[in-house]
Amino acid sequence: MTTESTRTAAPAGECPFGYGGQGAGNADAGAAPTADHHGYQPFQMKDPFPSYAALRAEEPVMFDERIGYWVVSRYDDIKAVFDDWETFSSENAQAPVRERGPQATQIMKDGGFTAYSGLSARVPPEHTRIRAIAQKAFTPRRYKALEPDIRANVVSRLEAVAARADRTGEMVKDLAYEIPTITILTLIGADVTKIDTYKRWSDSRAAMTWGDLSDEEQVPHAHNLVEYWQECQRLVAEAHANGGDNLTADLVRAQQEGGEISDHEIASLLYSMLFAGHETTTTLISNCFRVLLAHRDQWEALVEDPKKIPAAIDEVLRYSGSIVGWRRKALADAEVGGVQVKKGDGLLLLMGSANRDESRFEHGEDFDITRSNAREHLSFGFGIHYCLGNMLAKLQAKICLEEAVKLLPGLRLDDSAGAAGSDIEFRENLSFRVPVAVPVTWDA
Ligand code: HEM
Repeated sequence: MTTESTRTAAPAGECPFGYGGQGAGNADAGAAPTADHHGYQPFQMKDPFPSYAALRAEEPVMFDERIGYWVVSRYDDIKAVFDDWETFSSENAQAPVRERGPQATQIMKDGGFTAYSGLSARVPPEHTRIRAIAQKAFTPRRYKALEPDIRANVVSRLEAVAARADRTGEMVKDLAYEIPTITILTLIGADVTKIDTYKRWSDSRAAMTWGDLSDEEQVPHAHNLVEYWQECQRLVAEAHANGGDNLTADLVRAQQEGGEISDHEIASLLYSMLFAGHETTTTLISNCFRVLLAHRDQWEALVEDPKKIPAAIDEVLRYSGSIVGWRRKALADAEVGGVQVKKGDGLLLLMGSANRDESRFEHGEDFDITRSNAREHLSFGFGIHYCLGNMLAKLQAKICLEEAVKLLPGLRLDDSAGAAGSDIEFRENLSFRVPVAVPVTWDA
């Protein structure tokens, strides 16, 4: 619970942390600036876990003036908020954390940017209607059909790594970056030769929505988002004109057969999936290598017995999720973990913290692939918005690990990663915890 004793004075209108105070959550201008909230830094992703532990113990529901959100850190509180969509709406899930500057706003207006969230920031009944149609198109049959190609691609990349005489690799660049991007582009029927373009657009989306950018820094990203949205609209038009054997064409056919979904809603779904469908999976695959190799005995356990891989993936998702914080908005005055929040307030749910909460996970700070309840993690959210692509993400991580334990059993973190990967850097972001590189070597 927020305590007055944690609050310290700062000159009026001046944020002691140098943030501009444009939070899109609760613009509660009357709130006093606080002390450092136990070291919690909203955009710092290098090692947020000690501050998460302190927040759970000392301030499990605290108002953070730097971003204008209530920050919730305990498992039960977060799950309860996710579960109560009538009180806590997801409509702010895609709102820019920092307000759009005038130049970026103009660029996006001139470029006809009208994209809205595909699903995650939509609310019932609209969300229910679109999700039902999306779910029918996004079938296991469709993505399982891709499995042989994904596997062949993973094998050829790992073989190329294993053939290097200098025995050095980097798992983000060598594997995790492209594999999920190729998968989602294929699934959607987009041009797979444009991986770098889609990654550029996705980076812009992550930075513009969850980043801490100045007005000037937003400008190139605004141009990218205009291009990205135009491409989503073009894909829908192309499916209308030519049909096709892909998810976009399935959605267009569903519409033609009477499904209640507009072209704008289909394009918005593509706008979501062409980001959500690879960004977080790239991170999951990177984290599988980063975390398992930092706990080398557990990597060896997978080399010995690859049947343990699915459980290991859930433990990686628990211990080090791709998304560590997600937002909700209170639609009514309500209580969260004993703290009163007001109608209109924004909440940042720290799933990265919930996943280590001792009240749910014994020795939660320890990585343990034999943990029996790892699957209770909240890394895919919970409730009506539960991640649509969770099985596709896990399938790809499983293929990567299955092939890696065969082709590179001697894999280990390179010394440049620091002890147990402690020198690996992460991008600054409010929600996405993305390792920049995972340098590796291997025993001859
Ligand atoms: C490790 C990989 C992934 C992680 C950690 C992840 C995480 C999440 C989270 C936290 C949410 C919000 C849940 C909530 O609000 O309760 C979400 C929703 C969603 N995810 Fe994922 N995701 C991943 C992979 C994917 C993939 C591969 C796709 C494929 C297209 C995808 C598509 C979606 C969609 C469409 C939603 C919105 C669902 C809705 O609002 O009904 N995700 N995901």
